[in-house]
Amino acid sequence: MRLLVTGGAGFIGANFVHSTVRERPDVSVTVLDALTYAGSRESLAPVADDIRLVEGDLADEQLVERLVAESDAVAHFAAETHVDNALADPAPFLRSNVIGTFSVLEAVRRHGVRLHHVSTDEVYGDLPLGEDVRFTESTPYNPSSPYSATKASADLLVRAWVRSYGVRATISNCSNNYGPYQHIEKFIPRQITNILTGRRPKLYGAGANVRDWIHVEDHNSAVWRILDGGEIGRTYLIGADGERDNLSVLRMILQLMDRDPDDFDHVTDRAGHDLRYAIDSGALRDELGWAPKHTDFADGLGSTIAWYRDNEWWWAPLKERVEAGYAKRGQ
Ligand code: NAD
Ligand code: DAU
Repeated sequence: MRLLVTGGAGFIGANFVHSTVRERPDVSVTVLDALTYAGSRESLAPVADDIRLVEGDLADEQLVERLVAESDAVAHFAAETHVDNALADPAPFLRSNVIGTFSVLEAVRRHGVRLHHVSTDEVYGDLPLGEDVRFTESTPYNPSSPYSATKASADLLVRAWVRSYGVRATISNCSNNYGPYQHIEKFIPRQITNILTGRRPKLYGAGANVRDWIHVEDHNSAVWRILDGGEIGRTYLIGADGERDNLSVLRMILQLMDRDPDDFDHVTDRAGHDLRYAIDSGALRDELGWAPKHTDFADGLGSTIAWYRDNEWWWAPLKERVEAGYAKRGQ
């Protein structure tokens, strides 16, 4: 199989490329990535000799058309992904997430190529705290942030291209990922690298907001399961029953790093901060037989901390700039 992976130099995409090279020698991988601030060649260094990396933008229609024409399938991960950045400057989110997905859809339509579109649970908005209710495939879309609104828009384009043009596409909406190679702007790696650089971790508001954590390897095994056996036109929700509030996650990180669990700062809360995400992944498990492997969160967090400790070369050059950006916003 010739597989085009968009966004393969970002967090989830790079992990996807690593596991594909490791586990699927029959797949030849081409990565298309604009290498924005969030993507890095270094994340693909361990597989550099096994793949082709094309630096380019989704909005470059001719380039996308050419690469899609050479492929049997596309795994579409590329997007602008950080909610705080979207609140500060939404324009790049419109370009990459909406126009970028349109460009991919037009190319797969013209060439009859299979598409898997990677999306997020944030398209469903948020859930109340403390109620036993979770997102399912039929939960109405209700995005809260400029980021989630652009991801929801992209999902709707994919659905329309399936119905109107018979494009062979599937969609997955996954919960919060953690693991190696995640950009240090995101919650878990930001706190780990704060501690490693002698800074105090930063918690938005009271830390009561709940996220449903899944290890990136489990997200990616689900994406492969859908590519292999998913029903065209279907949406699958991916989650690993990993609900935790932010304060508990932060305290666990502090504890695993031998710090006082109260050694952190409360900072300005995120505007419009979603309260709780929770995924019901029953359909994926029952119909496609998928199950997560990383079911012990403390264990997964411990190995993620070890990865950041051992790979300072990968993140240290970014740290000052990321923290200066947060400081400007009082976070
Ligand atoms: P990331 O920000 O780490 O990486 C995104 C990658 O896309 C980067 O390499 C970047 O250079 C590339 N990119 C951005 N705009 C581009 C463009 N216009 N053209 C080409 N490349 C471009 O993101 P991530 O966390 O790895 O997320 C990957 C996908 O998974 C996204 O679609 C995101 O919405 C989705 N998702 C993420 C999570 C999560 O917890 N991180 C959860 C569910 C779904
Ligand atoms: O649910 C899936 C989504 O998860 C993905 O679609 C997004 O691309 C991904 O970034 C993530 O979104 P979140 O906004 O949930 O992730 P983030 O890591 O930014 O924040 C997680 C929680 O931690 C959130 O409630 C805000 C809080 N937070 C975040 C940062 C960066 C803090 O308390 N302190 C921080 O420093």
